[in-house]
Amino acid sequence: MVDNKQKQITEAFNRGITLGVYIVTVKAGDRINGMTAAWISRVSRTPPMVMVSIGHKSYTNELIKKGGYFIVNTLAQGQQEIGKHFGFVSGRDVDKLKDIQYLEGKSGGPILKEAMSYLECELFDTFTTGDHTIFIGKVISGRVLDDSKIPLVFQRSDFF
Ligand SMILES: Cc1cc2nc3c(=O)[nH]c(=O)nc-3n(C[C@H](O)[C@H](O)[C@H](O)COP(=O)(O)O)c2cc1C
Repeated sequence: MVDNKQKQITEAFNRGITLGVYIVTVKAGDRINGMTAAWISRVSRTPPMVMVSIGHKSYTNELIKKGGYFIVNTLAQGQQEIGKHFGFVSGRDVDKLKDIQYLEGKSGGPILKEAMSYLECELFDTFTTGDHTIFIGKVISGRVLDDSKIPLVFQRSDFF
């Protein structure tokens, strides 16, 4: 019975909140990296601020803490492969940006040329939740790179 209730919660947790798909990129010292993230939201309009929720063990987590900046690159419909590229291996083991075209943000972090838009953020605050860190960032630059693209909505079946 308890198991069934837990299953229902997990199902509602996985499907009940609509998410986009993003690549969070970062630079710290001479290291750059990017990872796929769906747990992202706006949290303030004035000044514009966003939050990203990143697992404690991910390399991106370590680099955001070190570098103090991150960039949210928004994926568009049809860009699931980019999400897979950045979402299943760690930058500790692989240079995920090797064959990817990017520009440099103010922080030196990579802005993916293929992204439909980006928001570059200065780290404002950090909270620890269960197994993730919430990074709140103040937006310092941002642009819609391709107005014709439509954002990708996260669907488990696209990735898992
Ligand atoms: C579609 C998708 C969404 C993801 N969303 C998140 C997320 O919101 N937060 C997170 O910590 N990991 C998320 N991940 C997992 C990370 O992208 C993955 O652990 C990655 O390998 C971490 O890379 P890093 O060690 O280079 O930082 C997601 C993966 C996929 C495929």
